[in-house]
Amino acid sequence: MSNKSFYITTPIYYPSAKLHIGHAYCTTIADAVARYHRLAGEEVFFLTGSDEHGQKIQEKAEAEGIKPIEYTDKIVAGFQNLWKLLHISNDDFIRTTQPRHEKVVQEIFRRVYDKGDIYKGSYKGLYCTPCESFWTELQLDENGCCPDCGRPVKEVAEEAYFFKMSNYADRILKHIEDNPDFIQPVSRRNEMINFIKQGLDDLCISRTSFDWGIPVPMDEKHVIYVWFDALTNYLTPIGFLDDQEKFNKFWPADVHLVGKEIVRFHSIIWPCILMALDLPLPKQIYGHGWLVVDGTKMSKSLGNVIDPIELIEKYGPDAIRYFLLREINLGQDGNFSELALVQRINADLANDLGNLLHRTLNMVGKFQNGQVLAPSGRSAIDDSLISDAMEAVRAFDEGMTGMKISNGVKAVWAFISRANKYIDETAPWALAKDPDKKQELANVMYNLIESMRIISVLIAPYMPVTAEKVWQQLNIPGEFKDVRLEDIRTWGGTPAGMHIGEAQQLFPRIELDKEDKVQPPKKEKQPKKEQGEKKAAAPAEDGLITIDDFGKVKLQVVEIVEAEPVPKADKLLKLIVDTGEGKRQVVSGIAQHYAIDELIGKRVILVMNLKPAKLRGVESQGMILAATKGDQLEVVTVDMPVGSVVR
Ligand code: MSP
Repeated sequence: MSNKSFYITTPIYYPSAKLHIGHAYCTTIADAVARYHRLAGEEVFFLTGSDEHGQKIQEKAEAEGIKPIEYTDKIVAGFQNLWKLLHISNDDFIRTTQPRHEKVVQEIFRRVYDKGDIYKGSYKGLYCTPCESFWTELQLDENGCCPDCGRPVKEVAEEAYFFKMSNYADRILKHIEDNPDFIQPVSRRNEMINFIKQGLDDLCISRTSFDWGIPVPMDEKHVIYVWFDALTNYLTPIGFLDDQEKFNKFWPADVHLVGKEIVRFHSIIWPCILMALDLPLPKQIYGHGWLVVDGTKMSKSLGNVIDPIELIEKYGPDAIRYFLLREINLGQDGNFSELALVQRINADLANDLGNLLHRTLNMVGKFQNGQVLAPSGRSAIDDSLISDAMEAVRAFDEGMTGMKISNGVKAVWAFISRANKYIDETAPWALAKDPDKKQELANVMYNLIESMRIISVLIAPYMPVTAEKVWQQLNIPGEFKDVRLEDIRTWGGTPAGMHIGEAQQLFPRIELDKEDKVQPPKKEKQPKKEQGEKKAAAPAEDGLITIDDFGKVKLQVVEIVEAEPVPKADKLLKLIVDTGEGKRQVVSGIAQHYAIDELIGKRVILVMNLKPAKLRGVESQGMILAATKGDQLEVVTVDMPVGSVVR
């Protein structure tokens, strides 16, 4: 382990409702970054939690007729369950209702008060309860409502304690201007600079109109303002007040990852509190964009929230994580749609990643009895694969350390495509037929297993469950949890002589119907069973079809009369077949298995009533049957007259 440490936080979430996929987005990103730094051998502390005080929560609990803590206990248990299902690897979960946190908040209040930066006054102004934010008349939106959420604000008037933010305005502005990385992305930085330049008012940091909060230590009828309470959560679990060594190791935080609407609290109020405490400021506040549905932020009040648990149950945690990390550029808003998720699963996970692993294991199994033989010598194609692997590791590092997560994911997938192409370029099935090419075949097999080894490590921050499955199928010696980035920075870590494990499917393809609607999962599709009905009677469960189902497929003998390659498609041939009643054009994925001349005159079986489809822009009216195993393929030929029906 290097002696570097890394501390990353998510916001602590309000338990005002169940979390939606937008919240899961933020936590998944933080998790991927934390996992990356662990892989890099750093000592990582990754914190998330719940922000449980405030008027809003008190009102919710009252509405349910229970105590606020009973209410938050229930909802927070749901958060923790969600993070478990999503394989979030947080090192601690802070609840602002825990005594360890209450102690820290009160101590901080006391220290800032003793310093003279907190004073008692009276507050008269506008307050947005859902956002727990104070606003001035000038800051309201065009409807006179909260500029963050658009809901009405309330006039409040009460005795209150104030934090002298004005004392720190110049210092914080200078810090932001001198440290370009402090607020990222740049657009958020500029917003904050403009905000501060308009002048910072002192901040009201206590309330007396409700009591669900941490009492002001020297005046117990006041409770501390939720944001003053919540922000200090970042100090509690890393040893502030009770473990100086741990605190020195992790503070200042490397990244506070937050949504764009709360950058203001993190990059202005929080640094002012820290300055008042004479503590160093976090290295970076990163304000990510929102997950939106049809351009609108997901929110319970708009009724457009997507439940992450339902998605995880349907598609598994890694597919959801992959989609969130790949599809959206961190600094910008990104659209969520189930269709886009399914398309990514099919194209990137089932196809690109799944096929690469499957083809690789299959060929090592078939051509070398499952053994990875020692490589010797390298061709130009091998060299280019190896240099692309090293480039993928570099671009992955750059994406993950520069908070350009989506770029990191794309770099890994570019290499997955590259490795798939390497199979096509080297055509191992042809090498396997030639006894003089044994070493060349061994090299190709080695390079593919080594590529997969590197890929398994590169996908680990994004898809931890899948990464480990890949590692196990490859059967590389050693435990996956002990693998580090160092192990893939040089080519050749796969030990020659090892035997691969058993190949298993990683991601099944998800069916879409004609309108591109996601097919409901099988269990929903099945007719309701009558009481006492036997399981075997449900056809979808045992995979059997009836003779009527089979009768729908019209198979017939046809003769291939013409064949030519489909431009820019290595695997496809355009065939003209004679059906006995006329000619038809069929596109078939057999180009790598037949020379054109070999095909002319062959009598093959055609699925006659398949809906026409375009493959690479060329219409195909039917499908020719072929037998396949691993990388072997042979079209099914018969010696019957053209037009014979196959049953
Ligand atoms: N409790 C405060 C944070 C205190 S941190 C000291 C809070 N909580 S929240 O539950 O309302 O929001 C938590 C985080 O979820 C915010 O960073 C917010 O931006 C994020 N998201 C809420 N909806 C979101 C989307 N639709 N998309 C992405 N992130 C979203 O604010």
